Amino acid sequence: VVSPKKPSVVYMSFQECTGCLESMVNSFAFRGGASIENLLLNIISLDYQETLMAAAGAQAEEQLANATATPNGYVLVVDGSIPQIANSGFFVSGGRSGVERFRAAAQNALAIVPVGTCASFGGLPKADPNPTGAVSIRTLMTQLGISKPLINVPGCPPIPEVITGTILYYLTKGLPSLDSLKRPKIYYGETVHDECYREEYFEDGPRVAVFDDKAARFGGCLIDMGCKGPVTHNACSTIKWNQGVSFPMMAGHGCIGCAEPDFWDRLNINGKK
Ligand code: SF4
Ligand code: SF4
Ligand code: F3S
Repeated sequence: VVSPKKPSVVYMSFQECTGCLESMVNSFAFRGGASIENLLLNIISLDYQETLMAAAGAQAEEQLANATATPNGYVLVVDGSIPQIANSGFFVSGGRSGVERFRAAAQNALAIVPVGTCASFGGLPKADPNPTGAVSIRTLMTQLGISKPLINVPGCPPIPEVITGTILYYLTKGLPSLDSLKRPKIYYGETVHDECYREEYFEDGPRVAVFDDKAARFGGCLIDMGCKGPVTHNACSTIKWNQGVSFPMMAGHGCIGCAEPDFWDRLNINGKK
């Protein structure tokens, strides 16, 4: 019996903090996601990932070249933003700039899945004053003239099951329905405010004015503490984190808007913007 070949996934990291990958490896078989062991051992063939693979140096570069050699042969998952000037020196790996590494790997990809707000929208590296000239994968693709199906999976980091669920969806059903920012509507169709269990206190209170006041201990709405839930599209209040255990507002802190573009600059986490 010949086993069918598992779909190939190439996962490359650029200007990132490894939080997105760390989130993904905590995925459970839950709400459309896959447990990480089932995903890696039974469903996909993860043919390149710098942090998880045993190979390093020249062997890793050789593996990357082999893994990306077949036209339409793999899904390219990317975390981190990329400095848009190829020779800026801000991101170099294996002797090549981020732009060159991405351009080469994107060429034969079936689809590209930027994971995390850095890859989806530029994220922390793109925050003002953006010394490295970081851009999102979508912006870089436009600049390089690369046209491929693109699915953004933002969040800083994204929810584990949203990462694996999006990859699984694409591999089994094709492109999901996307919003204008290329996010799958199944996970980003609503704001975290829409399903927040504190929503019933949004209009008439109680509203938290100071952490640990009476309203905070009651579980009141955090809007006056700067919660960005009403403008942040993500599945935190439905899928939640840690296998459905909790999410920021359940832990008593407002949403900081981590899945939205430019949240570091645009959504002031301490003020009332
Ligand atoms: Fe790290 Fe957040 Fe960027 Fe992911 S999106 S690489 S968690 S800074
Ligand atoms: Fe909306 Fe935030 Fe209030 Fe929850 S705590 S109801 S997300 S404003
Ligand atoms: Fe991020 Fe807000 Fe969810 S800060 S983790 S999108 S509740």
